Amino acid sequence: MTSKTGATSGRAADPCCLVIFGASGDLTHRLLVPALYNLAAARLLPEAFALIGVARSPSSSEAFRADLAKSLPQFANRSIDQNVLNQVLGCVGYVQGDPDDESTYANIGRELTRVERERATQGNRLFYLATPPAGFAPIGCHLGQSGLARENGAWRRVIIEKPFGTDLASAHALNQKLLGVLKEHQIFRIDHYLGKETVQNILVLRFANGLFEPIWNRDHIDHVQITVAESLTVGRRGNYYDATGALRDMVPNHLIQLLSLIAMEPPSRFAADSVRAEKAQLLEAVQLQNRDEALRNSVRAQYDDGFVENQRVEAYRKTKDVDPHSTTETYVALRLMIDNWRWANVPFYLRTGKALRGKQTEVAIKFKQAPIAMFRDTPVDRLAENFLVVGIQPNECIGLEFNAKIPGPSIAIGGVSMTFRYEDYFEAAPSTGYETLIYDCMVGDAILYPRADGIEAGWRLVQPLLDAWREEKGERLASYRAGSDGPKEADELLARDGRRWRPIA
Ligand code: BG6
Repeated sequence: MTSKTGATSGRAADPCCLVIFGASGDLTHRLLVPALYNLAAARLLPEAFALIGVARSPSSSEAFRADLAKSLPQFANRSIDQNVLNQVLGCVGYVQGDPDDESTYANIGRELTRVERERATQGNRLFYLATPPAGFAPIGCHLGQSGLARENGAWRRVIIEKPFGTDLASAHALNQKLLGVLKEHQIFRIDHYLGKETVQNILVLRFANGLFEPIWNRDHIDHVQITVAESLTVGRRGNYYDATGALRDMVPNHLIQLLSLIAMEPPSRFAADSVRAEKAQLLEAVQLQNRDEALRNSVRAQYDDGFVENQRVEAYRKTKDVDPHSTTETYVALRLMIDNWRWANVPFYLRTGKALRGKQTEVAIKFKQAPIAMFRDTPVDRLAENFLVVGIQPNECIGLEFNAKIPGPSIAIGGVSMTFRYEDYFEAAPSTGYETLIYDCMVGDAILYPRADGIEAGWRLVQPLLDAWREEKGERLASYRAGSDGPKEADELLARDGRRWRPIA
């Protein structure tokens, strides 16, 4: 094995000012500012950089700066270098204001003029909407109408956090509102799954190797399993989660992104437009289901009491801020079919849930079985399944599971595996997962950001389920023990097709 390779470096991003709405919130302290620090440490943050926080709570530039400097060491998870810190927090502004109020934007404008003079950020502005979702449309509209986001030689970009809508209609309405005041190239809709190295590597695995593409189709692949299992419970997010549920929270965004990357056709170029166009084509080919099909091809369930990783977990309905009669699902499993030449008759099974046996995000591709006939006069009565497994987290790896001869005079066959682990080859730089996404936005590369049509396509796929579940009012809500692999109904969904889920580690 060769020595480990560190992260690749690039040019520093353009001079710019980052304006964070929701500056006093958890996301800003826990993920965004540590990500800026990591970018600065890797020399990817511009020298001419300024940061403005906007929030309702009273504060000042000095107090905001001190607050960030204090919380940074805890969340950055590394020792702090004063020079790097000065680059991130050397020019900080703060605007106290209601994001619904026009005067807030006049104040932001004044603060921008001040910092742009002090740091020569060349008028480039990145607005980060780290607020609750109710703020996205009003802030986007104010930014457009106030002229703060007007491009006049300098770039002006807006990052929008998730959730982007709560169903197809609301996602479409939000897109329409934003596109009424901003251009598509200015809007960067975050899906933090696309910031994960292992997720980005799916494209490289598929398209930078001559090995996989020839067998990446219905002739060789039996089915695909996409698993995003969490051992975490709903915890303190009862308010948000009870109104949202596992389907809305995870499927139209994270799981659909994984599905698109695994199943899309090769883009003509490694560039935002080509990649996003191929993803859109793929999502168009996923079979839309009517109400009955949607119900037959899905399972929703809620966790009961149990033990997760040896800790006692109370049933979801006993969680703080959750309705004691809630019919919100904490687990969902789906069977989707893709109607195109590559994937006809290859089912894609998706599952995600909270309070499961362990945390495990992976895509497992099951290859068709070799005919066993050749071994008929031997003691071999079954062959192990051939899987290619892309481990996304916590095990960042790619594994191939196949059959080998067990040493000995008689013919016996056993399942073995070959695994590539990222940590064996590459040095991981400290990361919150937001570095690449923020950097890409600063350099204007939208390859990792879903376009308006991509977001709506995700919602279009789950809308029949949302409708069907709303009508049946929790009638078919299954349950599972906290700490298990999920409900038995999810096993039955695959058993119907003669298949089974891989165990959750
Ligand atoms: C978020 C969801 O988008 O993703 C959370 O709102 C979920 O409920 C989280 O826990 C999972 O992200 P990760 O990166 O831990 O897999």
